[in-house]
Amino acid sequence: MKIAPIGVFDSGYGGLTVLKELIRELPDNDFLYLGDNARTPYGTRSFDVVYQYTLQAVKYLFEQGCPLVIIACNTASAKALRNIQMLDLPHLAPENRVLGVIRPSVEKVAEITKNGHVGVLGTVGTVVSGSYPIELEKWSGGHVKSTVQEACPMWVPLVENNEIDSEGADYFVRKNIQNILASDKNIDTLILGCTHYPLLAKVIEKYVPKEIEILKQGHIVAEKLVDYLQRHPEMEARLSKSGTLEFQTTESAETFESKAALFMEQEVKAKTIHL
Ligand code: DGL
Repeated sequence: MKIAPIGVFDSGYGGLTVLKELIRELPDNDFLYLGDNARTPYGTRSFDVVYQYTLQAVKYLFEQGCPLVIIACNTASAKALRNIQMLDLPHLAPENRVLGVIRPSVEKVAEITKNGHVGVLGTVGTVVSGSYPIELEKWSGGHVKSTVQEACPMWVPLVENNEIDSEGADYFVRKNIQNILASDKNIDTLILGCTHYPLLAKVIEKYVPKEIEILKQGHIVAEKLVDYLQRHPEMEARLSKSGTLEFQTTESAETFESKAALFMEQEVKAKTIHL
């Protein structure tokens, strides 16, 4: 049997916040990270475009041998995951698996909210898809009573352009946080429903009252993956474990290396590929 890395995909750098936690939980595993930086952001694109782009990335990671792909992007999880799992996987590679970030986050919210009032910050695509309210209704076991959402279209470009400490970041984060807090004064749990957003955590925390729990997805996704692999030894056996990290991008490798190194807090070597 051929063994290979876990594939991790995002439209750009946001998935690195998930990758970091995956490495922490599974330090022996090998990972292949793919950022579609040439076509980021996905958040403002149509359902069909996000589905086609994500499918291309998944196919590519399968071709590289990855038996398991984590879609470390809410927009792609919201708009493409279900189709890929139901329509494409059965004929592409029925024994492979593609997992997203929304379901694990929803399960976690159900565990931590005390009053059932939840806020979701996400891209326009994630918010308009309604995936969070739908999944929270379905999987929270009745714990979630109200879900309000706020689209934050400027946040991903701020992160992608390394403007996280700028006055612009402060302005847009404050505006969106004030909006969501005004839509429901009782929110006790706020989901950062975009994998880019933890990179803005410092600014976000400035404007969110301390009694509100801010949920970052990286750790949640990593915890759930460990649990998944324990329940699926047949998949676990197909994963290679030399503790290596490989980075690929659809844009310039040099730019990716310098920005990703900042986010990963370690040296990054990247390769440009074409989807
Ligand atoms: N990181 C992606 C997400 O979690 C967002 C990105 C984008 O707009 O490209 O939704």
